[in-house]
Amino acid sequence: MSGQLAAIVLAAGKGTRMRSTLPKVLHPLAGSTILERVLAALGELALAECFIVVGQGADLVRGRIARPGVQFVEQTEQRGTGHAVQQVIPHLEGFEGEVLVLNGDAPLLRPSTVAYLVEKHRSFGADATILAARLAAPGGYGRVFLGAEGRVRQVIEDRDCTAEQRRNDLINGGVYCFRWPALTTVLPALSAENDQGELYLPDALPMLTHVRAVAVEDPQEIFGINDRVQLAQASRILNERTLVRLMLSGVTIVDPLRVTIDETVEIEPDVVIEPETHLRGATRIAGGCRIGPGTLLEDTVVGTGTEILYSVLHRSRVGAHSTVGPYSHLRPGADVGSHCRVGNYVEIKNATIGDHTNAAHLSYVGDARVGEQVNFGAGTIVVNYDGKHKHHTEIGDGVRTGANSCLVAPLKLGDGVTVAAGSTVTEDVPSGLVIARSRQVVKPDWKAPYERTEDG
Ligand code: UD1
Ligand code: CA
Repeated sequence: MSGQLAAIVLAAGKGTRMRSTLPKVLHPLAGSTILERVLAALGELALAECFIVVGQGADLVRGRIARPGVQFVEQTEQRGTGHAVQQVIPHLEGFEGEVLVLNGDAPLLRPSTVAYLVEKHRSFGADATILAARLAAPGGYGRVFLGAEGRVRQVIEDRDCTAEQRRNDLINGGVYCFRWPALTTVLPALSAENDQGELYLPDALPMLTHVRAVAVEDPQEIFGINDRVQLAQASRILNERTLVRLMLSGVTIVDPLRVTIDETVEIEPDVVIEPETHLRGATRIAGGCRIGPGTLLEDTVVGTGTEILYSVLHRSRVGAHSTVGPYSHLRPGADVGSHCRVGNYVEIKNATIGDHTNAAHLSYVGDARVGEQVNFGAGTIVVNYDGKHKHHTEIGDGVRTGANSCLVAPLKLGDGVTVAAGSTVTEDVPSGLVIARSRQVVKPDWKAPYERTEDG
């Protein structure tokens, strides 16, 4: 089995410094989780086996991360990173290839970097090769001490370093490539004689004959997350990567410090993203749109040249050359056509809206199919809920509703129907005008009782 590659991701640790009931590696990070991002860094490699060592919150991690080709190995007591790797020995018996070991808390690694580490390791013919970086602020990381010919002599944890050793700025990135048979020979010899009383994986390195280090070009990649300050820093870095990529591809981002965009979002050139805008998930925006300020889009698709201002859209679609907002809310299943106007305080849910249709002020449209060139008067409400069930409404092309109309579902308004202002429409209207309000009564000589005289 030599020449094969396996991977072990260490994700059993307590994550004490996060001060969380959620396992550290499951904390959300830019639309994914810490651990899923580490797994993504293995994406380019053909792996014979992939293990995740789990312990704290093991069931939660299993449930969230389960995917084909990944096996979970339990480390019931968290006795250190070396102890974690020891748990995999029985599962890789007789394996003669290389094994990558990655800390499960370093989510900024790039797939190309991991592939490069493996390639260098193979060309060195080393027993182990580690990813290292020179950091301006190396505090908290294990320090890498080199011997002759750039070989790694040992790694000393920050807390076990002397003041002098702590000045070394070459740090251990927590990403290793081992010749598995060599590692398994020395792993049982690890000792817990250190400040934390744990079995440290880096302590295996001095026991191996030939250990090398590869420096990462971008030291941000080995950034490990131990607390929530670092979690926020990582999310800032990931966001910046995405924004830089988008800007270089032709998207204007007016103030990158006030915009967050998941890397899964697709945006065509010549889109302008205004401040306080947040784009998430499977959102796709076509060219020429202006999005924001103050807008949140999640899993939403927007057509060419549309403008969305101060609005929230979830799992929705808006066609081309439409305007949405200010202060609109499109909820799942809102499917708005092209050349539409969805305006102030308008909420749309599970409704298809045809082209050239306007709902400009204070409306609710839910569970409906609305035709083209419809005009909803201010305050038109589709009454879709009877207190127990939701009902459907059909509104034909060219329908116009007067202000403050209630359209009580189930209801069908034919093409070209006009609804008089203030109507509560409860029965289908095939064509023409519907007036469903009480007639106005005017009493010109009426007086309030206290103003009345004896004779009237
Ligand atoms: C570790 C390295 C350090 C390196 C740094 C890079 C050790 C002893 N030190 O330190 O040299 O500079 O990463 O980020 O390895 N884990 C387990 N089981 C355990 C303990 C930990 O699975 O018993 C997992 C954790 O979930 C985590 C990873 O191993 O994902 C690293 O553990 P952590 O305690 O964060 O190590 P560091 O102190 O950051
Ligand atoms: Ca760590």
